[in-house]
Amino acid sequence: MSSLSNKRIILGVTGGIAAYKSAEVVRRLQDQGAEVRVVMTPAAGEFIRPLTMQALSGNPVHTELLLIAPASADFMANMVHGRADSLLSAIHLATPAIVAVAPAMNQAMWAHPASLANTATLQERGVHIIGPDAGIQACGDVGPGRMQQPDSIVEAVGKLFKNGQLAGKTVVITAGPTREALDPVRYISNHSSGKMGYALAQAAIEAGAKVRLISGPVDIAAPERCQLTRVVSAEDMLSASLEAAAGADVFIAAAAVADYRASTIEPQKIKKQGDQMTVSLEKNPDIVATVAAANPALFVVGFAAETQDIETYARDKLVRKKLSAIIANDVSRSDVGFNADENEVSWIDADSSKVFSKRSKAQLARDIIEHMVSQHKL
Ligand code: PMT
Repeated sequence: MSSLSNKRIILGVTGGIAAYKSAEVVRRLQDQGAEVRVVMTPAAGEFIRPLTMQALSGNPVHTELLLIAPASADFMANMVHGRADSLLSAIHLATPAIVAVAPAMNQAMWAHPASLANTATLQERGVHIIGPDAGIQACGDVGPGRMQQPDSIVEAVGKLFKNGQLAGKTVVITAGPTREALDPVRYISNHSSGKMGYALAQAAIEAGAKVRLISGPVDIAAPERCQLTRVVSAEDMLSASLEAAAGADVFIAAAAVADYRASTIEPQKIKKQGDQMTVSLEKNPDIVATVAAANPALFVVGFAAETQDIETYARDKLVRKKLSAIIANDVSRSDVGFNADENEVSWIDADSSKVFSKRSKAQLARDIIEHMVSQHKL
């Protein structure tokens, strides 16, 4: 599996004879598992039929890489000046993605001080320059300026992504709360927003994994490119988890599962009766422990939501539930834990522990995945 697995790439094609090689770049990127969309400048259409390369019309918010190949001298100048006179140049201005260009131009144009200065400016701004190659050019000249071969471009692009660490792996993540019905209108639940579990799903996707997300009822959008199963109760979550975990490589239990459910779910709304009411509850199954017991080869990570003696309780859960690791967080604080955008946690396993200071759940999730993979050689 390649580091390009699951990556979203926009390939920008500008006007130049090397444009005919862009179709090959698309195919090679796709061979490596990337999802590629193509945007052509009007000038590119003179060299390769737009029908050959389907044009993009959507919003490139989640694109990880904008690759412009070939990048003509004119388009590189356009980038330097921050113009937005074509869809591609507007995307270049707007994108938060990594930007890479594969220049392609006549050797004299490439050697011109204006082109050299433009290349240097783009590099200073963090744009990755791939090539160009030297050799015989389409016009008959000899020298540097030819676009690199598609294979070399794809290899260079692959190196821009440090992850891909979970390529080929299947990761199952539970997230959000469960709801345990008392009657048709009432339920027992908790404050989990799903943010931590959803951030882990996004980070695992970015690391190249195939992700199955099993989510209780939440108000946030699931990451694209994961298989989402919506559940309500702990029992639903258990059966979805057991089904998804069979054959998976990693199981991460970020869900806040209700420990108890009503012994009987009343079929009709419970009527108000006096000043007090008693509900009989019974224990829910322990999802993460059941999954760990049923799948001995699975790497199982639990969370421990604690309000005191955090490490002691977390270690107890690690051992009792027979987990590979546990991530402890303090849910007595309002700035981290339940529903917050940030979290501060400790990763604890049999041999080591590591504190992750307060940071966004998105960043924390990436750091947890990185730690898990490097520490445990998954
Ligand atoms: O969703 P957010 O708003 O972003 O908040 C994130 C979080 C605080 C919910 C998350 O970081 C977290 O701590 N999740 C675990 C919550 C929890 O139920 O902790 P626990 O200590 O009660 O349970 C320990 C572990 O057992 C957890 O992995 C839990 O998913 C699992 N469990 C618990 C009970 C049960 N019946 N089945 C389980 O699998």
